[in-house]
Amino acid sequence: MPDRYAVIGNPVDHSKSPQIHAEFARETGQDMVYGAIPAPVEAFEVEVRRFGKSGGRGLNVTLPFKHRAYGLATRRTSRAEQAQAANTLVFQGADVVGDNTDGVGLVRDLTANLQRALRSRRILLMGAGGASWGVCGPLLDRAPAALVIANRSMDKADALAGHFRACHANGRVVSTAGYGELSGKRFDLVINATSAGLEGTMPELPEDLFARDALAYEMLYGRTTPFMAFAAAHGALVADGVGMLVEQAAESFHVWRGVRPETAPVIRLLRQT
Ligand code: ATR
Repeated sequence: MPDRYAVIGNPVDHSKSPQIHAEFARETGQDMVYGAIPAPVEAFEVEVRRFGKSGGRGLNVTLPFKHRAYGLATRRTSRAEQAQAANTLVFQGADVVGDNTDGVGLVRDLTANLQRALRSRRILLMGAGGASWGVCGPLLDRAPAALVIANRSMDKADALAGHFRACHANGRVVSTAGYGELSGKRFDLVINATSAGLEGTMPELPEDLFARDALAYEMLYGRTTPFMAFAAAHGALVADGVGMLVEQAAESFHVWRGVRPETAPVIRLLRQT
């Protein structure tokens, strides 16, 4: 019997994780299957336990359950603790281990695929929801000169910044700003972790936001968002979130199987479909 894995979420039918992990398994010769579990909002924990009891080995967790996955884990990695969320669960005997591979996935896309140095660079992170919580730790691990968190609701930005100032060794470089306070600040990397692109909008940004050779990174994928169009029109290089999607999956695969799959062919494949 092949080992069983799945992605669990609500909704989950749009998820590309089954396709990505099927490619990884084929490429590395791992004997495993990877499915998709739609979980009713009230029954997430029940579905996770059912999967574990039936011999499932691991789950990826997607919206809106990453914080609840963290809550139900009996052990947590430090990167899950920093994010206060788990996108990866591992069933180990009686334990459910909660891990988070989102931030490492973003950083690997930035540094390995897009060849961007983060050390001593100025980073703007837009948004203070779950997506931002997931990536601050691994970004700070790379010792940027500044990590500015911008958000409409300053309460949420302050909560996120306060958490990382307290829990991360490089947390002193974290600060917050309203979108209206960004003029003239010039960032080497601007990451859009808001969900504004889903509605076809973007935060109001100044035209002088981007430093020379800046990269604008949109965490969404599968569409050209207003942020991507704005960044291209103001001289930044632009990337979408396909690379992050595949890299976080590769990190989960490595956690489960101890094998690191090649990601470039899968990124190419997803861009074609
Ligand atoms: P989750 O935790 O699931 O990521 P969320 O808490 O709703 O979801 O976070 C979505 C993020 O996108 C928030 O930072 C939100 O900003 P506010 O906290 O100020 O609401 C941001 N966001 C969503 N739509 C936006 C828009 N049109 N303009 C700017 N920011 C937006």
